[in-house]
Amino acid sequence: MSNQKVSFKTEKELQETILQEKARGTPDLEIGQKYGVTFRYIERLITRTQGLNISALKVSKKIKTLYPKDFKEEQTTVWSFKQRGNWATHSGEYRGNWSPYIPRNVILKYSNPAELVLDYFCGAGTTAVECKLLGRSCIAFDINNKAIELAKKNVDFNALLQQLTFNDEKKHPQILEPELLVGDARDLSFLQITHAAHRTTSHENCVIFKGDNSIDLICAHPPYANILHYTDSKEGDLSFFDIDGFLKEMAKVAKESFRALKPGRQCAILIGDTRRKKHVIPLGFKLINVYLDAGFKLSELVIKRQHNCKTTGFWYAN
Ligand SMILES: C[S@@+](CC[C@H](N)C(=O)[O-])C[C@H]1O[C@@H](n2cnc3c(N)ncnc32)[C@H](O)[C@@H]1O
Repeated sequence: MSNQKVSFKTEKELQETILQEKARGTPDLEIGQKYGVTFRYIERLITRTQGLNISALKVSKKIKTLYPKDFKEEQTTVWSFKQRGNWATHSGEYRGNWSPYIPRNVILKYSNPAELVLDYFCGAGTTAVECKLLGRSCIAFDINNKAIELAKKNVDFNALLQQLTFNDEKKHPQILEPELLVGDARDLSFLQITHAAHRTTSHENCVIFKGDNSIDLICAHPPYANILHYTDSKEGDLSFFDIDGFLKEMAKVAKESFRALKPGRQCAILIGDTRRKKHVIPLGFKLINVYLDAGFKLSELVIKRQHNCKTTGFWYAN
């Protein structure tokens, strides 16, 4: 609590005021300036009180469109999205969520309609929403039950089959409702793979097998090693491990991924690099090695350009 501009008798009083501001939709920048608190302070307060790391307590989920306007699949290995994408229920409210353009490109490139996509770091459900829009079957899970609650709200929208016919992909056999669960990415043995054809909007489930060689595509965005925390130190939350510990835990995830994926299919992982004591730690390359050690081969290395980073400017100064 530094540079406090408005005085409070107790810290609790300050925190309650900040939460009220957040509920009114006041931007973090304004709260930071008014109450002399850091971005990290606000973030921790929200994560502790809400059970998940979200930027806004007030988000309108009115759907304007189910499609990204003028979407074209990426053709090179440098992907650049000037806007993060706000079609369907997508929004930037869940901190560190990925732009829906990323799973959309991955899903279109590496899977076919009705195939089964797994995202074991579900967060707010961006991949699951894209699977629903693109006629893929999806299992997504997260260590945090609050994230899964949010993801369930995000996949809960009405879409008609004819609205979902997309570009050249003529075949959309059916709208498949994603299956969202609480689980730990380091152990996929709890997964009950249900037959895609039975996982329609009617939720008729039919368990056919569990385990090896059952997933058509893995599409996931791991937590960041001790940079952004997703929970208030929940057991198993990999965002609390520092680099070496994080890579060690991710080795378990990679091993499980190799086991669960059908032979010859793809596992797409997005990870950012980081800095320690001002020097770059090539976390991306280190993580690639972890997956190579688990048996994968590298088929593409894609760079995503960074635009409009919120943590510049005021927050660096504070
Ligand atoms: C970068 S976020 C994923 C964001 C997601 N792609 C989205 O767009 O909302 C990483 C997620 O991993 C989850 N997580 C952390 N440790 C985990 C674990 N052991 N197993 C499953 N999920 C975990 C966090 O709760 C967080 O939601």
